[in-house]
Amino acid sequence: MKLYASLLSCDLLNIGGEIEALVEAGIDGLHVDIMDGHFVHNIAFGIDAVKQICGAANLPVSVHMMVSKPAHFIKAITCDGVESIVVHCEIGNLPGVLKCIKEAGVGVGIAINPTTKVFEIVDYVEFIDTVCVMGVYPGFGGQAMVPGITERIGCVRSVCGANVEIAIDGGVNPSTTDLVKLCEADILIAGSYLFSGNSGNRVDNLKERIKALCHGVSKKL
Ligand code: DX5
Ligand code: ZN
Repeated sequence: MKLYASLLSCDLLNIGGEIEALVEAGIDGLHVDIMDGHFVHNIAFGIDAVKQICGAANLPVSVHMMVSKPAHFIKAITCDGVESIVVHCEIGNLPGVLKCIKEAGVGVGIAINPTTKVFEIVDYVEFIDTVCVMGVYPGFGGQAMVPGITERIGCVRSVCGANVEIAIDGGVNPSTTDLVKLCEADILIAGSYLFSGNSGNRVDNLKERIKALCHGVSKKL
């Protein structure tokens, strides 16, 4: 299992330092949340932020687009370091958008909101590399994970088979990771839990938190 850090809750005035500390602490990748104020009731990051983050980190970067009409931005947002672009299955013209991501040459992901039925993704399985199961209603960090995530991930796995990676985004902390591990998600995405400790040495603090999240799974630290 891999652990990615969602930068939404990091110290934005020191984002370069946060990325350096995450790299040193052994994080597997970064997750950048793009919000357009329309698909979700919040606004976050953008094309230039993704480019600068990719330039600062020698790590895979997954871009999560909580955007109603992402197609227009996909080419612009694809730069060295972007591993995958994840769009929501709730948007319009999903086949066209997935095609744009494929043409951009990066991993193709779809995210699914807590209230969306899993069968909505069935028609897209052959075109995707990752399903990002939302553990919270998208838009904000620091929310509690919705109930029933284990069953939901099991359901996504049975629909997608073994070749599609499953990520869980939102509400990941030591009290919820056991659930998620049980159902064998491939990637955990954590934001507020990783960044909430601000006492003492940043790297040591992150190492402890990474360990707490990955306890009992095969992540070498
Ligand atoms: C929610 C975002 C998540 C979020 C995770 O809209 O997509 O990536 O930042 O943050 P936590 O871990 O605080 O739930
Ligand atoms: Zn996200």
